[in-house]
Amino acid sequence: MTKVILSGANGKMGQVITRLAAEDDKISIIAGKDINVEQKNDYPVYDDWNQITEKADVIIDFSHPSGLDSLLEYSQKTHTPVVMATTGLSEEQIGKLREHSKETAVFFSANMSLGINLLIDLVVRAAKILEDNFDIEIIEKHHNQKIDAPSGTALAIANAISASRSTPSEFVYDRHSVRKKRGKNEIGIHAVRGGTIVGEHEVMFAGTDEIIEIKHSAASKEVFAVGAIRAAQFLKGKKSGLYDMKDLVNSL
Ligand SMILES: NC(=O)c1ccc[n+]([C@@H]2O[C@H](COP(=O)([O-])OP(=O)(O)OC[C@H]3O[C@@H](n4cnc5c(N)ncnc54)[C@H](O)[C@@H]3O)[C@@H](O)[C@H]2O)c1
Repeated sequence: MTKVILSGANGKMGQVITRLAAEDDKISIIAGKDINVEQKNDYPVYDDWNQITEKADVIIDFSHPSGLDSLLEYSQKTHTPVVMATTGLSEEQIGKLREHSKETAVFFSANMSLGINLLIDLVVRAAKILEDNFDIEIIEKHHNQKIDAPSGTALAIANAISASRSTPSEFVYDRHSVRKKRGKNEIGIHAVRGGTIVGEHEVMFAGTDEIIEIKHSAASKEVFAVGAIRAAQFLKGKKSGLYDMKDLVNSL
């Protein structure tokens, strides 16, 4: 049984995890943390980390970047590992997370879906095989409430492709502002926002007279919640280090 403190408990993702955990006897949410403590759950929800007396194996965080400092302080004080799923962290905050992971285990992934992590694996292979004969464009689509663009996942895909190449790629977000032909070394990254789209990521390899498209669509937020719960189970008892979905997939 993995005991969890759920940060962002009363948000959309927090509530999906709450529902899944209620049906799963391998995980138990023993407390929640949220700035909104209105919602009623089967477990207590606090708006201050200092009020939490319950002892958990892992913290799962689906909240907001503004909550990072107090969360890390609590994790350090109680030696509780963290599954960090919140997106939109600044470079400085990611640095803090890395630093924190030297003492406490941290699992960090902009996309907790196993399917997306398989997609990253496949596109890196495709990029290596196709070399620079194909132009790579990433198109991501999300609902109209999403604030950050492009998505953390689109950037993670682009970074993984770039890291696998001999020359780092140039990321191009805004063709509207330039008047020149596409360079060989570019990866175009495009964000589409509308309606209730949960999350789509498509990588297009466009060559001479042929196109290869590799695409992942999430039909509900459950895929991220399932991944985060698996990450929490994976992280339980781990001493220190920065882990991600690749480590989880390799451990299966
Ligand atoms: N990594 C992934 O796979 C993945 C998947 C889905 C969503 N997310 C990310 O998770 C986060 C939450 O998503 P959501 O759709 O549930 O959003 P949401 O707005 O519905 O929920 C966020 C919750 O966090 C609470 N909150 C805000 N600031 C807080 C703070 N400082 N401390 C504690 N709680 C705070 C809010 O009151 C709210 O209940 C976002 O950053 C989102 O991008 C990540």
